[in-house]
Formats: sequence, structure tokens, C-alpha cells
Amino acid sequence: MKNFSYYAPTQVVFGANAEEKIPQLIKCYGGSKVLIHYGGKSAERSGLLGKIEQALTDAGIEHLKLGGVVPNPRLSKAQEGIDLCRREGVDFILAVGGGSVIDSSKCMALGIPYEGDVWDFYAGLAQAKACVPLAAVLTIPAAGSEMSGGSVITKDEGELKWSYDDNLCRCKFAIMNPIRTYTLPPYQTACGITDIMMHTMERYFSQEEMGITDAIAIALLKSVREFGPMVLANPEDYYLRSQIMWAGSLAHNDLTGCGTIGDWGTHNMEHELSALYGVAHGAGLAALWCHWATYVFDAGPARFARFAREVLDVEIEDDVLAAKEGISRMRDFYHSIGMPASIPELIGRKATEEELLLMAEKCSRGRTITNGNFKKLAYEDVLKIYTAANE
Ligand code: NZQ
Ligand code: ZN
Repeated sequence: MKNFSYYAPTQVVFGANAEEKIPQLIKCYGGSKVLIHYGGKSAERSGLLGKIEQALTDAGIEHLKLGGVVPNPRLSKAQEGIDLCRREGVDFILAVGGGSVIDSSKCMALGIPYEGDVWDFYAGLAQAKACVPLAAVLTIPAAGSEMSGGSVITKDEGELKWSYDDNLCRCKFAIMNPIRTYTLPPYQTACGITDIMMHTMERYFSQEEMGITDAIAIALLKSVREFGPMVLANPEDYYLRSQIMWAGSLAHNDLTGCGTIGDWGTHNMEHELSALYGVAHGAGLAALWCHWATYVFDAGPARFARFAREVLDVEIEDDVLAAKEGISRMRDFYHSIGMPASIPELIGRKATEEELLLMAEKCSRGRTITNGNFKKLAYEDVLKIYTAANE
């Protein structure tokens, strides 16, 4: 196992009516003028936005709002927010939504005190030294951004979807009311289930052994595999929605990565799919994972076999055969929750040769980096995986 440092400072307030704590928490974390940042219409339609605005008004907290964050959030929207916050003297950002809204908020929070272009952080040209405090009111369990230090932003020119990790931009608090997720369409719920499992799988598929971490990862995966289909069948079941919501945070607050080195190859390859086609991140992951797994499992069949046996109930003694059966059962699982398991299933057609080459080129940053750790993937490997996923 590897040495590690574990940092998960976000205060989680979980349960029905958790929103009632928002004004008190904003004051506690020093906010006096708040930007409420949100996406399309879902938070307005559900009445959540109005409720939060009213609560802030009642508590005497100045606030303004900025909506319009799209899934796979854009740099241009964050830049608009940075200008607005500077002009208005905003000292706290409240993200109301999912990963896209939270990531856009993080980008703004990092950009406000920075003199240069906030894209510098995502392009690896600079490291942030300050960040405006922010918090999340989570409406979709999926990306885990409410407890992670990461944010993923798409630069409008060139469709570059790049990430930046920094403990500075972790949310001060996260409000999680499972009732707020009842309105999620089945497709978004399934995308969330996929992403939650994948955040654990990216960490579990490591060449390092770490008993406690692995056991937590397996338990989390088993639970989401069991509760996921149940929540799709019972979208207004408080207990089931709660299980998925809490799993989403635990899957991406680094708990399942302590002492191991995560892979992240599937994530990096997926970001090119969502950048190019605008697809939902979870669906893009499902389209790629089995093809990634088939390509890399020979670098450690025992780990894949354990996953197959303990998460997917495979009863085969031989590791290689068990690993293959596990991959096949994941494909079936994705289909059973309405997720694609290939690029044509994802986008409704085959990707063109040109698109595959472009994604492989971008993913390997012009052939200068490898992706993944379980097996390091050079440009040629990434292209082969995209090609296999395109069948
Ligand atoms: O825009 P609105 O109208 O709010 O609709 C959203 C959006 O269309 C809808 N939605 C959210 N809550 C809802 C709801 N609809 C009905 N009822 C509700 N309660 O769901 C759609 C998807 O929302 P989005 O925020 O895009 O989903 P998600 O949380 O999956 O976030 C995806 C983004 O997060 C990034 C992804 O790459 C992608 O850009 N990720 C961020 C990570 C991080 N910061 O740590 C890690 C992840 O691996 C991921 O890469
Ligand atoms: Zn993800």
C-alpha cells in the first residue's frame, strides 16, 4: 500500500428539510453576500430555488442569482459569473444542482481572486492560491463534486474538457435532501448510478492492495449495484434515494482510494466523449468501461476476478474466466438500467474514423501523456479502446 493523506473537510447535512440549515451555515462560514448558482429549469420547477431565496431574505443575507449552467459546464458561463461576483462584491457561492453547477461554482470561486485567466488552472499553467468559499445544495447524486476537490470545465473553443484538483475549492458544506432527487428522470438517475460505481471502480482497479480500502470499495459497489435498480423502480422511495445519495459522496471523497493509486483511464477517455458529443458523463462511462476492462484486465486478472465474485456474484474459480464473466455481467447491468455499453448505443451511430482519431489525440494531449495506471495507455492503446467501443 502507498502512504496517503486523507482530507474531506466538507460538512454534510443530510436528510429531509436539510435546506433549513442553509442561512445559518452560510453565516457560520463567513458569507454575507451570496451568489446562488444553478442550471436549467429543474431547481426552479421544484420550488427549491424559491425556497432558498426566501430563506436567505428572511435571514437578512444579501443574495443574487445566476442560472444557465449546462451539463458539461462551460468556461464562458463561469467567466460571466466571475465578472458578476467581482462587480457585486460576492463573498460566498451557493451551488444548487449537480456536478455541472458545483464545478462551474468551483471555477468561479477560484477565478474571482485570481488575476489571470481561470483556465490557467485547468491547463496546468498555474496553481490557485485563494478561493472564495462555496457550498452545494445537491439535487443529483452522481459526480460527487459536493465532497471532492475536483472540477471539470469545458473550454468553448476547441471543446477541451479538462479538470483541476485543489483542496482549496472543496465545499464548506453540502446539503443533501434525498427528496430533492425524486424528480430526476430515470436516465439521469441511471447516469448517476453509473458514475458513482465508476468513481469506486477507478480507485479499486489499482495494482496496490489495501485491505480496508478494498473492503469499503467492494461494500459500496455491492450496495449501489443492489439499490440502483431498486431506486429506478421506486423513484420516490426515501430510503432508496438516501442510499444512492450518500453513496455518491462516499464514492468520490477519496475514502475508497486511501493507500492505493487509482486508474482514471475510463474517466479521461469519457471526457472526450462528453466534450465532442455533449453526452451525459455517466452514460459515456458506461459506453467505455467494458472495452477498457477487456483491454487491461490481463495486467491483473485476480483483481478483476475479486470484483466479479464479490460485486457481481460470479462463481468461477479460474481468475481469467471469472474476470471475463464479470465484464460481461457489467455490460448486462448497464443495459438493465438503461445505459449504453458502446459508442453507437451512446450516440445513435458509429463514431467516424476522424472522430476516433481526434478523441485519442486529445485524450493523450497530442501524444505527450499516457492515461490510466492499472495499465498505462499510450495514444495507440486509447485509440484501440475507442475503436473496440465503436463496434
Ligand atoms: O440543468 P437542470 O435543469 O438543473 O437539469 C439537470 C441536468 O440537465 C438535471 N437535474 C439535476 N437535478 C435534478 C435534475 N432534473 C430533475 N430533478 C433534479 N433534482 O440533471 C441533468 C444533469 O445534471 P449535471 O449536473 O450535469 O449531472 P452530474 O451531477 O452528473 O454532473 C456531470 C458533470 O460533472 C463532471 C462531469 O464530467 C460532468 O461535467 N464530473 C465532476 C466531478 C468532480 N467535480 O469531482 C467528477 C466526475 O467524475 C465528473 O467528471
Ligand atoms: Zn465521474
